[in-house]
Amino acid sequence: MRDRYELIDKLHKTHALSKEEWIRVLENQSEEVCRYLFEKARTVRDAIYGKDIYIRGLIEISSYCKNDCYYCGIRRSNQKAERYRLTPEEILQCADEGWRLGFRTFVLQGGEDGYYTDALLCDLLKEIKKRYPGCAVTLSLGERGEESFRRLFEAGADRYLLRHETANDAHYAKLHPDYQQLKTRKECLFALKRIGYQVGSGFMVGSPFQTTENLAEDLLFLKELDPQMVGIGPFIPHHDTPFGSYPSGSVSLTIFLLGLIRLMLPHVLLPATTALGTLDPQGREKGVLAGANVVMPNLSPVMVRKKYSLYDNKLCTGDEAAESLASLKERMKKIGYTVAESRGDYR
Ligand code: 5AD
Repeated sequence: MRDRYELIDKLHKTHALSKEEWIRVLENQSEEVCRYLFEKARTVRDAIYGKDIYIRGLIEISSYCKNDCYYCGIRRSNQKAERYRLTPEEILQCADEGWRLGFRTFVLQGGEDGYYTDALLCDLLKEIKKRYPGCAVTLSLGERGEESFRRLFEAGADRYLLRHETANDAHYAKLHPDYQQLKTRKECLFALKRIGYQVGSGFMVGSPFQTTENLAEDLLFLKELDPQMVGIGPFIPHHDTPFGSYPSGSVSLTIFLLGLIRLMLPHVLLPATTALGTLDPQGREKGVLAGANVVMPNLSPVMVRKKYSLYDNKLCTGDEAAESLASLKERMKKIGYTVAESRGDYR
């Protein structure tokens, strides 16, 4: 059992473990080990980012999606999903509100929706950059071609989020239809890095059929990709999907992984995600205390928030809402952290 502490020490020192070592750490999670890990993770994070927690204003621009991921509530086969898309003008109104509230990073996230052509997005990016000088824009719009990624980067996009979802081909095939391929996803991620984006990837914890070996593979893939951001959150079933009756992922395993990722990639921007907050009212705090340093409140128009339903009971009000920034600040202060009103770039 001493072994587990030694492995965490090794990870802390060398920022890497072998696949077998990852599996051993992941299979031996306990309260004492967590305490040991989280303290190290906080020390590492605090040494690089201090007590600052970065905020990102999340604008969910479209619930149309041409993909059919079995876990996702806005998959194209879900005929019960209510669809909406925001016009550039509506997106700018959200950003206006966000800027006023103190957000200096906007995340434009949506399903893969052909309405958002390169031309439309480039005009929008230029307008955002003109209106809010010094802000950062993150895109999270799924897979696109390298040339498209390049055009968007040149028009002002700074960062791109694209979770790999699982780094194992066989597991990927259990979560997606045939025409969605892990290979394509990985090619997109490496293209984004080549172009110069700050790149984010990640996966769901406890997705159907996920094994400990798969999680080890996810961590090895993240090590190889070396992204600036990593998003992980528990899988949560959506009742109108093929995985509607599968159990949710574990909150404790998610925060354990947050701590491990902090030690593996010390500089990474690591959010305590909405999914974590959805499963546990203290999820955000637990995430931050395990090494996370980002939260992403919802800036979407209140009218459409319920429609961006990736999983059941997804939070979009209370402290998840950008309007409640004061309360989020208070909660972070209670655990010793400060919400920073800055772009919150990778250091
Ligand atoms: N539970 C948790 N996370 C989900 N996502 C999609 N569906 C679910 C779900 N049912 C995550 C995916 C995607 C991100 C935008 O939301 O990992 O990359």
